[in-house]
Amino acid sequence: MASVTSLTDLVSKQLTSALLATRPEASADPLLRRSDRADFQANGILALAKKAKANPRDLATEVVSRITTGEVVKDVEVSGPGFLNITIADRAVLTNLAARYADDTGRLGVPLAADPGTTVIDYAQPNVAKEMHVGHLRSAVIGDALRGMLDFTGEKTIGRHHIGDWGTQFGMLIQYLMEHPGELAPASDVDGEQAMSNLNRVYKASRALFDADEEFKERARKRVVALQSGDKETLELWQQFVDESKVYFYSVFEKLDMEIRDDEIVGESAYNEGMPETARLLEEMGVAERSEGALVVFFDDIRGKDDQPVPLIVQKADGGFGYAASDLTAIRDRVFGLRATTLLYVVDVRQSLHFKMVFETARRAGWLNDDVTAHNMGYGTVLGADGKPFKTREGETVRLEDLLDEAVQRAAEVVREKAKDLTEEEIQERAAQVGIGAVKYADLSTSPSRDYKFDLDQMVSLNGDTSVYLQYAYARIRSILRKAGDVRPAAHPELELHEAERALGLHLDAFGDTVFEAAAEYAPHKLTAYLYQLASLYTTFYDKCPVLKADSPQQVENRLFLCDLTARTLTKGMALLGIRTPERL
Ligand code: ARG
Repeated sequence: MASVTSLTDLVSKQLTSALLATRPEASADPLLRRSDRADFQANGILALAKKAKANPRDLATEVVSRITTGEVVKDVEVSGPGFLNITIADRAVLTNLAARYADDTGRLGVPLAADPGTTVIDYAQPNVAKEMHVGHLRSAVIGDALRGMLDFTGEKTIGRHHIGDWGTQFGMLIQYLMEHPGELAPASDVDGEQAMSNLNRVYKASRALFDADEEFKERARKRVVALQSGDKETLELWQQFVDESKVYFYSVFEKLDMEIRDDEIVGESAYNEGMPETARLLEEMGVAERSEGALVVFFDDIRGKDDQPVPLIVQKADGGFGYAASDLTAIRDRVFGLRATTLLYVVDVRQSLHFKMVFETARRAGWLNDDVTAHNMGYGTVLGADGKPFKTREGETVRLEDLLDEAVQRAAEVVREKAKDLTEEEIQERAAQVGIGAVKYADLSTSPSRDYKFDLDQMVSLNGDTSVYLQYAYARIRSILRKAGDVRPAAHPELELHEAERALGLHLDAFGDTVFEAAAEYAPHKLTAYLYQLASLYTTFYDKCPVLKADSPQQVENRLFLCDLTARTLTKGMALLGIRTPERL
């Protein structure tokens, strides 16, 4: 019996049946939530009374008379206009937590979803031969966290890194490499930094030539055609760009402490072969139409200047395919090949119009419907500490690696300051976990659709809603557990709970419900808020309730048990978000 029903669920069920018994004709959600006045407050009776045209207080009193108090609900009373205040029995809180603690599957007693689906997550999609920037950082961090949370609920997730590895710019790059062989070292001979610097050099040089030399431009155009028609030599050179770029991508993802699988890097080029068919199908179905030679889709509600409709271009007049065609083809693959029930895109909010048109087109084609839905989790822009779009002092976009290196360096200062007895190697190791954690947490703790400020001082601050604060809370608990020596944590459900203990305990119980809610809403910030509150409740508990010096041996064991369960919950929650919790800090 590894899985545990949360107290919220238990009480909700009791209330729902009491509501039904009182008013069989009306189904109502009891709207249970944590409250400061009692353990829980239920507000659902107000809506029910309105529907039934009954006096809410009378109705509430009737409902209360049908609730059996005892094992779980210790006390329930009517308050205000018709709320219910509910208090849980101490024993029920501790028994519930003990069952979570006993779960040896690492799930803290949280059950898996009864009917999970398959979500294909499109995230971490840098572009070949281009440097990654802060926008790519957000997609990677948010996507990875959503995936961690969804996996935990039991959803099957498949990653798709839709890298930009196709398009006309490759004509220029490949042509240049043909005329200047040896400019790219074999991918196996370079590290991430060398790879990117080679690619940058080739990119700049070919761009300059392209802009200055009409004949080169023409050769580059022909090269695009050769690439699209699958010319062997051209494809080999293209592959060199992809391989070299991957060396660089992997080095950045490693720095980000993020696992990216090669079989999930499926870029735009992978859909190249399917694009003509996508176009044919859309045209045959009448979803797309010919307009000035191009194949396009129109939408009533999408209009540009002068109220002119803005079409989605499936195929250009010259026969070429672009970004939209690759995304539409990817949808077919994800729906019919991977059997996805949900398509999730973690892409900059500035591409939301593109996705709106692509999704609507796919719906008209029947590729998306009630059983297969698509969402763009559009995220906002990363701003500098000054609130302006994030740029270097020279006004250039910030290199992602520089930014990560700086975060780690700042973290090292914080770690060095705090822990005087660590070796330099230990400091560096922890600094990486603290620094990268700080970057991820700052990103995740803001509602994704909002812009957020990249402010390293704030990110690595020990006070406030930061990952370092949570990491310290975790490390402190681990140190208490070490100090306890031979005394083992153990639950003692017969004990009476201190107010701070029950607040902590009830919050611990809500972990699973919170992850499910955050996953369903694609809202990692709900999980960070939960974890931050967990650390705060723990701090209050630790201030108010002596642990190792508690009154009785049972009390010591029980409090150690609360400490340990808090640590496990913190580390699990952080892990779902891709953030590590070092044992010592
Ligand atoms: N590579 C694109 C960019 O850097 C993002 C790709 C997003 N995914 C997609 N299926 N279009 O802007």
